[in-house]
Amino acid sequence: MDIKEQIKQLAKEKNAVILAHYYVDGAIQDIADFVGDSLALAQKAAETTADIIVMCGVNFMGETCKILCPEKKVLIPDATATCSLAESCPAKEFEAFVKAHPGHTVISYVNTSADIKALTDVVVTSSNARQIVEYFPKETPIIFGPDQNLGGYINSITGREMVLWNGACHVHEKFSVEKIVALKKQYPEAKVLVHPECRGAVVKLADKVGSTAALLKYSIEDSADTFIVATESGILHEMQKKAPHKTFIPAPPDDSTCACNECNYMKLVTLEKVYNCLKNETPEINVDEEISKRALSPIKKMLEISASLGL
Ligand code: 13P
Ligand code: SF4
Repeated sequence: MDIKEQIKQLAKEKNAVILAHYYVDGAIQDIADFVGDSLALAQKAAETTADIIVMCGVNFMGETCKILCPEKKVLIPDATATCSLAESCPAKEFEAFVKAHPGHTVISYVNTSADIKALTDVVVTSSNARQIVEYFPKETPIIFGPDQNLGGYINSITGREMVLWNGACHVHEKFSVEKIVALKKQYPEAKVLVHPECRGAVVKLADKVGSTAALLKYSIEDSADTFIVATESGILHEMQKKAPHKTFIPAPPDDSTCACNECNYMKLVTLEKVYNCLKNETPEINVDEEISKRALSPIKKMLEISASLGL
C-alpha cells in the first residue's frame, strides 16, 4: 500500500476526518476529506461527527477546530506550523490596544491565536469580513486586527474608519507590483486575482479581490482563459484541477528569483507527517479551558452571522 492509501485506511479505522487548507501541498489536498478556505474549514469542523480531526494547515486553524470541538482530539501534522500574521499580534500588546480604544467593537481575523480571539467580539475570515463589518451600524466604532491590509481594504470598500492593528502576512506582503505589471504585458488577456491580505498597491491591479474560495470560484466561472494569481501558490492546484483547460500563473514575490510565493509554514505539512500524526495521535492541539470558553463566543457569532447571510 502506498502512503496515501495507508493514511486513508488509518483515518477510516480511527474515525478521523482530514481537513486541508488550499495552501498546503497538492498531495495533501488530494488525500483530504475536505479542502477549503478558513471559513469553510471552521464550518466543517463545527459539524463533523468524527472522533479525530487532522487539521492540515497551520496552528491557528487547529486551535479554531479545538475551540469549536473541545471534546474531540485535534491533531496537526507539524506543531511548528505557525503563521506570521497571527504572530504579528501578541496578546498583551493587543489587550493594551483594545483598552486604549474604549467602547470599540473588536473584530479579529481568524488568523489569530486563541488568546486574541478571547479578546474579540466577533471573528471574521476573508470570505465574510466585509459582510460582518457591514452587519454593524455604520457609526459603530470598530477595532480591526491583525491584518492592516485586509482592514484597509474593507475600510476602502465600505467607507468605514476602523482602527487597524498593524499586522501583516509575510507571504502576501511580498507580491511585486512591477512583476505583476510585467506579467500583464506578457499576457494582456489575463485576469489578475488578488487576496485582500496583499498590499493596497497590489489590490489596485486586481480584476477580482477575494478569499481563496472566492478566487477559485471566479477562476472557474469567468470567461477568461488565463489568470495571474496573487495569493499563496498552493491554490493553483485546485484551480488547475477544477479548470484544466485554463492557464494559471503564480504572481511572483519581489525579493527573489522564484516564480511563485509559498507559505513556508503551510509547506511544513507532508504526507509522512500526516501519516505519523494519525498513527501516533500526536502532535495534539490543546487550548487552555478558560481561553477556549471566551474564544468560542466570537467564533460562534461569526458562524451564526455567516449562516444568517447565507455565506
Ligand atoms: P482564506 O483561505 O480564508 O482566504 O485565508 C487565507 C490565509 O491566509 C489562510 O492562512
Ligand atoms: Fe499565515 Fe500568511 Fe501563511 Fe496564511 S499564508 S498561514 S496568513 S503566514
